[in-house]
Amino acid sequence: MHRVLFVCLGNICRSPTAEGIFRHLVKKQGLEEIICADSAGTGGWHIGNPPDPRAIQTALTRVIDISDLRARQLKVDDFLTFDTIVAMDSDNLANLRRQAGNHTQKLFLMLDFAPDIKRTDVPDPYYGENGFDEVFDMIEISSSGLIEHIKQQTRQQAGRHIDV
Ligand code: 4NP
Repeated sequence: MHRVLFVCLGNICRSPTAEGIFRHLVKKQGLEEIICADSAGTGGWHIGNPPDPRAIQTALTRVIDISDLRARQLKVDDFLTFDTIVAMDSDNLANLRRQAGNHTQKLFLMLDFAPDIKRTDVPDPYYGENGFDEVFDMIEISSSGLIEHIKQQTRQQAGRHIDV
C-alpha cells in the first residue's frame, strides 16, 4: 500500500479537499488496494472539526462528499507512516522540513504535480470570499498528476525487484 498524506495549515479547507478528490480519483481508477490517503494540519486550532462548510459545499457540487472528515494535527509518527507527504504551500512545506528528520525525500508541494499551473502554492481560501472553486480545480489537476507519479514510482520499484 502506498500511503499519501496531504498537509495544509488548518486541515479544514485545502487538505481535506485534496483527500476527498484524491480518493475519488483513486477509486475511479480502481487503485484502492494500492493507494490510500489521509490529511492533517500543521496547526491545531480545528482538531476534531469537520471541513469548512464552503469546502464541503464546493466538493459536493462536484459530487465528492468530504463532510465526514475530521481535522487532526500532524504528528511525528506521520513521517514514518506515510510514503508521500504533500504540502499545499511552501510555508507548510518549510514547517514539514523542520520536523521530517531524515524523511525529507518524502516531501512534495501539491503543485509539483501540476506543471501546467504556473504557481508554487495552492492559495489559502479560508479568509477569502470565493477562492474555493479555484482551489478545487488546482487540487483536482495535481491529484491526477500525483496518481501518475505514484504509478510510475511503483512500476520503477517493481522493475528494480525483477532486476535484482
Ligand atoms: P486550510 O485553511 O489550511 O486550507 O485548512 C485554513 C483554515 C483555518 C485557518 C487557516 C487556514 N485558521 O487560521 O484557522
